[in-house]
Amino acid sequence: MKTSDEQALFELKHISFAYPFEQPVLKDVSLSIHAGEMVAILGVNGCGKSTLLKMLAGILCPQEGEFKAFGRVMTEKMLLDDKLSKQYHQRVGFIFQDSDVQLFCSTVQEEIAFGLLQLGMPDSEIKERMHDVMALLSIEHLKDKTPFKLSGGEKKKVAIAAILVMNPDILILDEPTNGLDPRTQRWLVGLLLSLNKAGKTLITSTHNLELVQEISQRAILFDEHHSIVADLPTANLLTDTKLLIDVNLVDEYYHRHESGEHSHYHIHN
Ligand SMILES: Nc1ncnc2c1ncn2[C@@H]1O[C@H](COP(=O)(O)OP(=O)(O)OP(=O)(O)O)[C@@H](O)[C@H]1O
Ligand SMILES: [Mg+2]
Repeated sequence: MKTSDEQALFELKHISFAYPFEQPVLKDVSLSIHAGEMVAILGVNGCGKSTLLKMLAGILCPQEGEFKAFGRVMTEKMLLDDKLSKQYHQRVGFIFQDSDVQLFCSTVQEEIAFGLLQLGMPDSEIKERMHDVMALLSIEHLKDKTPFKLSGGEKKKVAIAAILVMNPDILILDEPTNGLDPRTQRWLVGLLLSLNKAGKTLITSTHNLELVQEISQRAILFDEHHSIVADLPTANLLTDTKLLIDVNLVDEYYHRHESGEHSHYHIHN
């Protein structure tokens, strides 16, 4: 249980955000996230999940409302300040929905070393961290490969490695299980749980209702009109079928068994 005086990592009050010349894609969004939480962001395509995550990741600033991170009000000027932005990205790691946006170096090991080199870390420590993270993700065999030639799942692992190597306190993952086979999804869930156990705060957007209960205790749900309509324990959200249908996250075939939820296709006579 959080005490009211415990400082939130992120505190958003009545945030609105619109891309240039577009209608708002986040409307009157208020939320707080505390250290150690595992939070899921849910909602249909285009509701604003990635936009919200990019804001928390220090890439976008709201036009309206107040966005505080680590107790400080975030401004466009702060995001453009090289030193402040480096400090921020060291604390907050962001895994993009599309790994191709994130990976730009010519080899996997350069990709993983990039952030550490930017911090001016000594070579010996860079080597040690790279060795550990590649072993953790079982990607040593990919180290000399070109990221853009890897499979989708391999790219995702490299993108995760490039963030984990920085050892951020907070991990923001945008649809991390997309395109992963069931075994790799399961492996990723295990990794996320062990990271949370080690004290990391996890904020994940997902459409995967089968995994959401495992990777979050709390779910924040957007409707199609870019506003938050529920912020509650994940287990409670998953049993609220009416709400899930209202926001178009499930169809009328959705139901839950003891072991979890899923949909069947029925043929009516
Ligand atoms: N750079 C951009 N410029 C203009 N519009 C954008 C930009 N990025 C996203 N949008 C628009 O903003 C809206 C919200 O996009 P966002 O990527 O946040 O949605 P999402 O909830 O993450 O969707 P998905 O489930 O498909 O990933 C969409 O209508 C999208 O087309
Ligand atoms: Mg998205």
